[in-house]
Amino acid sequence: MEFKKIKDNYNKYIMNTYLQNDICLINGKGIYVFDTEGKKYMDFISGISVINLGYSHPEWVKVLQKQINRIVHSSNLYYIEPQARLAELLIKNSINGKCFFCNSGAEANEAAIKLARKFSKDHYGENKFEIITMEKSFHGRTLATITATGQKKYQEGFSPLMPGFIYTPFNDFKALKNKVTKKTCAIMLELVQAEGGINVAEKKFIEDTAALCKDKNILLLIDEIQTGIGRCGEMFAYKLYNVDPDIFTLAKALGSGIPIGAMIAKKEIAETFKPGTHASTFGGNHLACIAALSTINTDLNKKLIANARETGKYLLECLMKIKNKYSFVKDVRGKGLLIGMELSYPAHPIVKKCQEKGILLNCIQNTVLRFAPPLIITKKEIDYMIKILDKELSQGGR
Ligand SMILES: Cc1ncc(COP(=O)(O)O)c(C=O)c1O
Repeated sequence: MEFKKIKDNYNKYIMNTYLQNDICLINGKGIYVFDTEGKKYMDFISGISVINLGYSHPEWVKVLQKQINRIVHSSNLYYIEPQARLAELLIKNSINGKCFFCNSGAEANEAAIKLARKFSKDHYGENKFEIITMEKSFHGRTLATITATGQKKYQEGFSPLMPGFIYTPFNDFKALKNKVTKKTCAIMLELVQAEGGINVAEKKFIEDTAALCKDKNILLLIDEIQTGIGRCGEMFAYKLYNVDPDIFTLAKALGSGIPIGAMIAKKEIAETFKPGTHASTFGGNHLACIAALSTINTDLNKKLIANARETGKYLLECLMKIKNKYSFVKDVRGKGLLIGMELSYPAHPIVKKCQEKGILLNCIQNTVLRFAPPLIITKKEIDYMIKILDKELSQGGR
């Protein structure tokens, strides 16, 4: 189908919920993607932190092809062998707990909210149900997860929202402590607020929060949907902090593009869910679990996480050098290969200009450029992007 016809069909038949860039990507290899016109792009956004292995990673493609020929779905009415293997792999690389599989980030967070509430009610009574979340957080687009999200713009028009959510400023322990009451059942946060503008959690804030949770029988619920699977230089970003979550959630890069989400909880909390308390038809089906197994094994075997650490540090240094050149670059911040560059004016024109030059980036919170390339990125490829970005910024970028 020609690009014009694709766009016409969108206008006619697809709800207008996204603000698309004017290209249609039809295939990808490694860090490169190609559009309907044959134009090649270097991808620095990875399908929003999903394609950590790069496009069409040969080992991932091979195991998926084999699996499609065997069985894709059988439902959770029956045991699913790759689900058992994936759960073991996730637990052996995280906390002593158990997994629940679903299809997306919002669904994983929804499951985490339900589990936290049920565990607290079962153990401490009906009134311990409140969840404290952070201002500028993002946890998804279902009704519960937009309520958990500490940004008004995602909530407008959808009231009444879910009761029982309280918001507090990120990285402000004193304010958080003041919000805790007997009703608090969980504190939910991201370690790098991604959609909120790449805001990095301070170590002391997280350590103090974890200690407070322990002291007050509050669950620490960490949303690793964007930070997990190596993006921040560890398999899960909480490993960069001196804490273990009680519950954490994954999606995005877990399946490298095949939809799968996971909610992982410490054993004693996980036991709260019994047959019938929660479910998902597609959750953890054969294909999704094979995709996730391949993703994690490739990450581990190819040392992609170490590469994310090293190239992330390099990318941050390169962006810092740019910051020092231009007064309108207000800040550069991030962890591993999840980095933001904040401008003092809207960043959309820079995204557009870089796209014209064959570099895919995106803009969050209007003024922040987000850099989240596949974890296979090299320093040479970073140099190439930096050269183009520097040129565009040198021309003012407006
Ligand atoms: C931290 C975080 N949580 C949850 C979500 C929602 O994930 P999904 O879009 O898969 O529902 C996102 C998506 O951007 C996210 O970044």
